[in-house]
Amino acid sequence: EKGNGHKLKSRETFTSGLGTIAATLGSAIGLGNIWKFPALTGENGGAAFLFIYLLCVAFIGLPVMLAEFIIGRRTHSNAVGAFKKLEPGKPWYVVGWMGVLASILILSFYTTVVGWVLAYVFKAVSGSLSGIDALGARQVFNQVVGHPVYPLFWQLVVFVIISLIIMAGVQKGIERITKTLLPVLFILLVICDIRALTLPGAKEGLNFLFNPHFSGITALTVLIAMGLAFFKLSIGMGTMLTYGSYMRDDDNLIATGGRVVIADTVVSIMAGMAVFPAVFAFGFEPTSGPPLLFLTIPMVFNAMPGGQIFLSLFFILAFIATIGAMISMLEVPVAFLQEEKGLKRNTAVIVTVLVIASIGSLATLSGSVLSHVLIWGKNFFALFDFVSSNILMPLGGLIIAIYVGWVMGKKQVLEELSNRGSLKQERIIQAFSLVVRYITPIAIGIILLNGLGIIKF
Ligand code: PHE
Repeated sequence: EKGNGHKLKSRETFTSGLGTIAATLGSAIGLGNIWKFPALTGENGGAAFLFIYLLCVAFIGLPVMLAEFIIGRRTHSNAVGAFKKLEPGKPWYVVGWMGVLASILILSFYTTVVGWVLAYVFKAVSGSLSGIDALGARQVFNQVVGHPVYPLFWQLVVFVIISLIIMAGVQKGIERITKTLLPVLFILLVICDIRALTLPGAKEGLNFLFNPHFSGITALTVLIAMGLAFFKLSIGMGTMLTYGSYMRDDDNLIATGGRVVIADTVVSIMAGMAVFPAVFAFGFEPTSGPPLLFLTIPMVFNAMPGGQIFLSLFFILAFIATIGAMISMLEVPVAFLQEEKGLKRNTAVIVTVLVIASIGSLATLSGSVLSHVLIWGKNFFALFDFVSSNILMPLGGLIIAIYVGWVMGKKQVLEELSNRGSLKQERIIQAFSLVVRYITPIAIGIILLNGLGIIKF
């Protein structure tokens, strides 16, 4: 330990193949699925956006996820350390720094929304959402978000809970609980879907979600769809790299990635199938943006017997689902401070949380006292979201894809994907090599340049 400074003695690995999938899925599933996916799909025209999103998941999301697994398991290091190990003296590790920055920016607004979720748990349990109509739903949301102190309070609660979990070292235990409860959330979504599909607006909602009209699609829409894929799959910022570093030699990387991507996509679409029928049934605008989930879900449950119980459960489980995502995000700066800067784990957690809390309050106050502060036409909340999802993560993904496709030796990549020859999946591995070399980097590059208006294709 001494001379070598802050190197970890021996790193832990996940204890089973199922544990690997569960942890990875726990990172992927969160607000991205139930809150961001419906909001962005609604704002960007519905089915056509979904279609582009799915293409991004297949040709960008899955390959980048696998590339991160490869680098992570090869090096068993955090995002910065991994590149220092693989390419000493070269600047590749900058990807790791970008990941640390992205993680801080995402957590800053993510915890705002988790705070809203907690506020809604409180409201649902206390019955103040029971029987409200569309107007009431809007008022409740505006009160939560527009109050200068109330949402800050709930965000603070989020920080306290998450710090305690990490510092008490009960992460593993919590992750286990999270994983057992994810199926319950899934069942609740099924119930929600069934109710929503029997609402009078169901047809219109499904039409919106599944019947594409490509006329409204712009370069920016495509960038936003790609950014959503990065956000939802927790890629391009070192999270999946770090989780890859905990994987064991016999974990099948391709199978893990494939399952996580499919499950994550199914959960998102199910959330969409609950939200959009309600949008049309209760007269909301599909373009409502961030409020969308919080407007529609109370209405869906209000329209059924036992609604208050289901609604309370829904927000409680939604909160639980965010814990795995937040832990995985925090792991990026924390592992960095620990392994690269030599901080003790608890110190690293406290430093990280303090930084995020300061920046995060700007995001939260964007709903009230800071709502008029605009940078590039965006308040802090929207700015943090845009910069992380639509710039930092795609850039990170681009560099990671180029690295694995062109710089890391073919032999190493093959060894990782085939577990040193013990898995026979040559065709898939060949397809991966092709996609990660050509399609993924070119697609990310074009979408980024075009979407940001740097080059018009
Ligand atoms: N994928 C998580 C979600 O959808 C968010 C996340 C992003 C987690 C980046 C880790 C890293 O909620």
